[in-house]
Order: sequence, then structure tokens, then C-alpha cells
Amino acid sequence: MRIAVISDVHANLEALTEVTQDIERSNIERVFFLGDAVGYGADPDRCIKLVCDLCEIKLLGNHDYVAMGLESADGFNLMAKESIMWTQKTLKRKSIERLSDFEMEATFLDFYMTHASPEHPWEWNYIFTDLDAQRAFEAFTQTFCLIGHSHIPGIFARRPDGSIEFDSPESLTAQPDHRYIVNVGSVGQPRDGNRDAGYVLVDTETLHFEFRRIPYDLAAAQKKMRKAQLPEFLISRLASGQ
Ligand SMILES: [Fe+2]
Repeated sequence: MRIAVISDVHANLEALTEVTQDIERSNIERVFFLGDAVGYGADPDRCIKLVCDLCEIKLLGNHDYVAMGLESADGFNLMAKESIMWTQKTLKRKSIERLSDFEMEATFLDFYMTHASPEHPWEWNYIFTDLDAQRAFEAFTQTFCLIGHSHIPGIFARRPDGSIEFDSPESLTAQPDHRYIVNVGSVGQPRDGNRDAGYVLVDTETLHFEFRRIPYDLAAAQKKMRKAQLPEFLISRLASGQ
């Protein structure tokens, strides 16, 4: 079975639309979403609707959680806070209802899924270092953990001797006896220096992972953000992918 795993759409409708079309062309049976449908971008309602139409599993991210009013924005930086306050004012009641069906974690076959580190999913911790990954590997029992959150695609592999290696390949086939934490990157706001929308295709039989990058109409997304008077830094960072 071929599945698509998307994350961190961040209300970027132009990016999500292109990714959806790429998924439709790729002979995919199921699509899973790992959180952060909203925040930063100018199309929260339409992105939530599209995620619901597209995805069989839908998880909450920290921006969704704050947008729903379940947590304060105190932990956010100034610009994230400004954009989430705009999102809260903009979101339709129907979108909040849709988000309330999203979950914190899910499993499918030998895959565990959550938005941030599996160690304590509701604490929204990042996995940047080998030590972060070491602790995260103790927190799930499956062979694979699929996450988003950092907007940086890549794979932490844990070898049978317990050592850990991080890599950002274009594709990877899983090795027997290894375990993996796969960050699928971000559809709507990549931060690995590549502006194109990112997501991952997985073949669950061959255990082959493909990191896809899809160009989209960046200028259109930026224009809408300017019209909504969202912070200029958030608008310009889309172009640099940082
Ligand atoms: Fe995010």
C-alpha cells in the first residue's frame, strides 16, 4: 500500500492545493495529516476543509491547539502569536468543530504518528539532536514514528547497537532491525532552505520512503498574507524556505 503523509500546512492553500494534486497523480491509497493545519498563513478555513476531505488520519499540532483556545499562545514567539491571534479571529465555528475531531496521536500498521516528539506529545517538544531522538525512541514501540513540527524533513535512524544517525535523503528504504523517526517536513512553510512544499510518500510493503518537493504559487500565498496584514517576516520567509 502506498500512503502519503503531510504535515504543517499552516494555512497555505496554494501549497496544499499543489500537494493534493501531486498526491492524486501518485496512485496513493491513504493520506495522513500530522498537525498544524493553521497558523502563519492566510487561508485557515479552506485548509482545514481540504485536510478533512483529503486525510483519513488527522492529528493536532500546537498551532491548531492554540487556535482552538485549548492553550494560550504564551509559548509562541511574537510573530507566531500575532498570526495565531489573527487566525482565532478569522476561524469559522465550523472549522473549530472540524479541528475538534483531530487527535493527538495515531497508529497504523507499524507506524506511530504524532505532531512533535512522542516523548510527551502534548508538550510539543522538538527533535533536533541525537539525544532528543534517543529519548523519543524510548517513547514508542513501533518500528516507525512519523512526525512534523520542526518543518525540517529528515530521518533519525537507530541501529541495532543503539547508535543514532540523522540524514536528509531524497529517499530511503528501511533496513531490517533498525528503527526510524521520520520528519515529513512542511507543506506550507518549509525551513530547510528549500521553498517548495514538502511531504512524504511511503510504500508500506517495501518500506520505501520518498521525500517529495512540489513548487507552488508562492506569490499568490504571499499576496493574501499581505492583504490580511500578517507579519512581513512570515511572508518573506516563505520565499527563502528558512
Ligand atoms: Fe508547524
